[in-house]
Amino acid sequence: MSPERSRELTYKTKIIKLRELSDHAKKYTNKMNLNLNDKNALVCGSTQGIGKATAMILAEEGANVTLIARNEDKLKQVLSELPGHGNHNYIVADFSNPDTLKIKVSEHISKHDGFHILVNNTGGPKGGPVFSAEINEFEAAFTQHLKCNHVLAQTVVPFMKNEGYGRIVNVISTSVKQPLDGLGVSNTIRGAVANWSKTLANELGGFGITVNNVLPGATGTERLSEIIKNKSAKTGISVDDASQAMKNAVPAKRFAKPKEIANAIAFLTSEAASYINGINLPVDGGRTKSL
Ligand SMILES: NC(=O)c1ccc[n+]([C@@H]2O[C@H](COP(=O)([O-])OP(=O)(O)OC[C@H]3O[C@@H](n4cnc5c(N)ncnc54)[C@H](OP(=O)(O)O)[C@@H]3O)[C@@H](O)[C@H]2O)c1
Repeated sequence: MSPERSRELTYKTKIIKLRELSDHAKKYTNKMNLNLNDKNALVCGSTQGIGKATAMILAEEGANVTLIARNEDKLKQVLSELPGHGNHNYIVADFSNPDTLKIKVSEHISKHDGFHILVNNTGGPKGGPVFSAEINEFEAAFTQHLKCNHVLAQTVVPFMKNEGYGRIVNVISTSVKQPLDGLGVSNTIRGAVANWSKTLANELGGFGITVNNVLPGATGTERLSEIIKNKSAKTGISVDDASQAMKNAVPAKRFAKPKEIANAIAFLTSEAASYINGINLPVDGGRTKSL
């Protein structure tokens, strides 16, 4: 064989090896190996966006996933997409009514089993400046975010205590650390949820239960599209320019994928995160200007 042909073959072999390594890396990064086998997870707001991405990862990691949202058709659709061999399920419930929510989840637990993992997540409050917000907007957001998180925690914690294993993860917002312009009601209520969560973490830490908050930055979901459309309408700039301006404010220069937020949530639900309790974890590409 000529030296040129030999060099060409060595080069081709190296390329093939690099491709294999890259495929391996992709496979490795796609699966976290958190081992959630036999863990039952209740994932709220899971028909789209961050909640759906979380449900998919928890199922992939072996958990039995129960979805919650209002739209039954969408719940059935997501249920059919959940990977893994878990015993997956769904509950139709509206977070504007905590009493009904509590009844529905309690009934589910009595028919099936309790939950080791609770991911508190729902739709974000209506946007707008705080000064012009109506009182009922604060009340609605408080009900949907704080009261519902609270009744869900009260409903699932007895089983977690018995099991000596519990993971509560609340999806909040980076506004807990740095209020966001044009999200007045949200900024206000998120602070209350973060403080509720920290207090609960103090109370439950001794039972093998952790309570943590994930604070997403701008994430490519329907919620973000709405926020960008509102910004564009208010400022008169195009949707594309409004979107680009938001990306420019992130050191990563892009929006998060829902899966990138869900990866952090999934880690916090795992055994591996057993000594992480009572934290706010921003997953925002570095956007928040404080530590
Ligand atoms: N995306 C972002 O850039 C971003 C950034 C920071 C914080 N967050 C926050 O993270 C959370 C999730 O965001 P997302 O972007 O994934 O939201 P999303 O795409 O709007 O999804 C919200 C989910 O919650 C469910 N939901 C909404 N209202 C509900 C209600 N009253 N009762 C029960 N379920 C309800 C929806 O399903 P149904 O309609 O079927 O009920 C859906 O599955 C929100 O609190 C959001 O404000 C998002």
